[in-house]
Amino acid sequence: MADLFSPLDVGSFEFSHRVVMAPMTRNRAETGNVPHTLNATYYQQRSDAAFIITEATQMCPEGQGYPGTPGIHSKEQIDGWREVTDAVHEAGGRIFLQIWHVGRISHPDLQPDGKDPVAPSAIQPTGEAMTFSGMKPFVTPRALDEEEIPGLIEQYRQSAKNADMAGFDGVEVHGANGYLLDQFTRDSTNTRTDSYGGSVENRCRFPLEVTDAVVEIWGKERVGYRISPFQPYNDISDSDPVSTFSYLTEELAKRDLLYLHLVELGGNEDGDDFMAARNPLFAKLRDLWPNTLITNGGYDREKADAVINAGLADMVAFGALYLSNPDLPERLLSGAGFNEAQRATFYGGGAEGYTDYPFLKS
Ligand SMILES: Cc1cc2nc3c(=O)[nH]c(=O)nc-3n(C[C@H](O)[C@H](O)[C@H](O)COP(=O)(O)O)c2cc1C
Repeated sequence: MADLFSPLDVGSFEFSHRVVMAPMTRNRAETGNVPHTLNATYYQQRSDAAFIITEATQMCPEGQGYPGTPGIHSKEQIDGWREVTDAVHEAGGRIFLQIWHVGRISHPDLQPDGKDPVAPSAIQPTGEAMTFSGMKPFVTPRALDEEEIPGLIEQYRQSAKNADMAGFDGVEVHGANGYLLDQFTRDSTNTRTDSYGGSVENRCRFPLEVTDAVVEIWGKERVGYRISPFQPYNDISDSDPVSTFSYLTEELAKRDLLYLHLVELGGNEDGDDFMAARNPLFAKLRDLWPNTLITNGGYDREKADAVINAGLADMVAFGALYLSNPDLPERLLSGAGFNEAQRATFYGGGAEGYTDYPFLKS
């Protein structure tokens, strides 16, 4: 039976184990949203992952929702990411870029010319945006005109080309956590009456058109897609997540992508029996998804072995544990302890709480 440390061959990738680094925003890009040497060091330290998925990276200026997040829409950003990918490759690692547009989870302070953020529908999220001058209430976004959508897809396509120029090994389309593509997908945030809203087919149209554009650049064997069917984060929900995400998964499966990345957060029961507590939608998506399935959310070695052993997932992505343990695969394998993640330094700052977590060997 397979477990977290069973090798896995997928397409042109030969993974010696199944520990993936989950995407994590760290708000440490330089002026102009440009990655730099400190970011290269951070990712290089984590090169032992089967592969790294970068922090979410905005594909156009309007896609930004937080200070200090990197972009992939300018030459300086491409060059900055090249330094990162070179550092990871030099250490024998692989790295995918997570392509992002936050949609309504932004604020005029973060938008070009102080405009309102865009979204499928003009529905104000509850909560606050992280701006350059502290937390401010979210505003009501401007609903995108249908005529604007082809231009947005073109920007996604261009960002995928830019990721190729920056030397990545693949890309992950960020369809999770209440950002733009998730806002189109789920019915609490999409009340459009044109061909991009209403039925589940219409709500998934834009995310799938984006995926097709990205696949045109990268080929299906280098593209993954992230979903979070139950995650309420960023004030989002769906009246029928089983139908919505089953349809989306079936459509993504037709496109034969490299992987589907499932964030389980918000979906599981409590209970002593870990496997019994998995949400039934997980098993359904597994049945609908023939290729590599990466799961994520609160995993440790034992749970990761169990979920892979049960055939529910092929790989497991680790977030907080990877943030604080640069040599995570070695620690998971050996049973050595973990450094504790320091929440105060998650978002923003310099090397502290970023590149100074100790290695077992140091
Ligand atoms: C500091 C931090 C930043 C995160 N940023 C992102 C992100 O940029 N994109 C994303 O899809 N998820 C993001 N997440 C969610 C993680 O990828 C992951 O789903 C979550 O941490 C649960 O996994 P874990 O229990 O292994 O930490 C972030 C999580 C943390 C802790």
